[in-house]
Amino acid sequence: MEIKEMKSMFLEYFGGEDKDIRAFASPGRVNLIGEHTDYNGGYVFPGALKMKTTILCRVRGDRKIRLMASDLKIMVEADIDNLENYKDIKWGDYQLGVAYEMLKNGYDVMGMDMLYDDTTPHGSGLSSSAAIEVSTALCIATLSNEKNGITTPVDMIEMAKISQMAEHNYIGVKCGIMDQFSSAMGKEGHAIFLDCKDLSYKYVELDLKGKKIVIANTNKKHSLGSSAYNQRRLECETGLEILKTAMPAKTCLGEISREEFEAHKHLIDDEIVLKRVEHVICEDDRVLRSVDALGKGDIAEFGRLMNASHDSLRDLYEVTCLELDTLVDEARKISGTVGSRMTGAGFGGSTVSIVEQDCVDEFIEKVGKAYTEITGLTADFYVTELGDGGKELK
Ligand code: GLA
Repeated sequence: MEIKEMKSMFLEYFGGEDKDIRAFASPGRVNLIGEHTDYNGGYVFPGALKMKTTILCRVRGDRKIRLMASDLKIMVEADIDNLENYKDIKWGDYQLGVAYEMLKNGYDVMGMDMLYDDTTPHGSGLSSSAAIEVSTALCIATLSNEKNGITTPVDMIEMAKISQMAEHNYIGVKCGIMDQFSSAMGKEGHAIFLDCKDLSYKYVELDLKGKKIVIANTNKKHSLGSSAYNQRRLECETGLEILKTAMPAKTCLGEISREEFEAHKHLIDDEIVLKRVEHVICEDDRVLRSVDALGKGDIAEFGRLMNASHDSLRDLYEVTCLELDTLVDEARKISGTVGSRMTGAGFGGSTVSIVEQDCVDEFIEKVGKAYTEITGLTADFYVTELGDGGKELK
């Protein structure tokens, strides 16, 4: 929705004048490779999307936050001094979770009217939730800093960390930092090579030599809150504890090389735990090889690594499903597909493929048709570029 249209909606819902309305936006993300490595202190390689959450906001004179969404006809009203009490609301929990964490981190959270518009589809594995969280954090921090005479720019990495804490403490998903970091720190035309151990990062200009990034949304909603995600995290922690008996100095799976894993994997008896750890260690290695391949302009090698990543998420990490596997299988039948894999947490959501420009129409038509025949669902396709992270819209 255009800002102009959002403004008239804002005035219709909240009344008053438009002169003090501010606008902030933060995007969703697509992860190109490096899945389920972030919470293991590993590498990821995501980029910010052009799809985003836009907030219009105006400060009130009291301690109330009122939230509306452009596509929902309900208003959520919350009391800033009782923010811990809204965890179970149907919509607005991400926003209030962030407000709660911002308060805990010393920000001056003010009473506000806020209108949200999301273009990142919900439950699509493209981090619509991180887009909501980071835009909310940025909005609160900007207004809080202004009120308190702080003139330094908002620290976007801190916004990512606070957003992640909202997800852990308020929503109950023990996610890694990848989604919030991408939403906060994205850069037009670039992917982010991020080391989740210490948050050191490098922007990598994504030159796909005329090939396109095509996202396919299964339209099968994934439920991150479901215990499967947290369960994977626990299995990795169990694996780390076992490997630490031989390598006590290691603090995360991201510090363990393939060679070290090979030398010590016999210590892990539990077959499931072994599979999870093997995925993480090899996926980490694939990220390094991907960044290297792209640096050399070797898109074909990057495509092979994407394929291997999906296969590992299917066979070892077991977070794919019929819908994701179908999209990937059908994508790989198209001659112009360089690589195809699921992106995000899995269990539904989306795939990402690198496709020769000339074959994009054929890809969308054939993959879409076969997907519907096999699953009975209709997929949505987005041909995408990578965009910027969160910012105020002036
Ligand atoms: C979700 C989480 C991320 C990351 C991915 C899997 O998107 O929010 O932190 O763990 O799953 O790579």
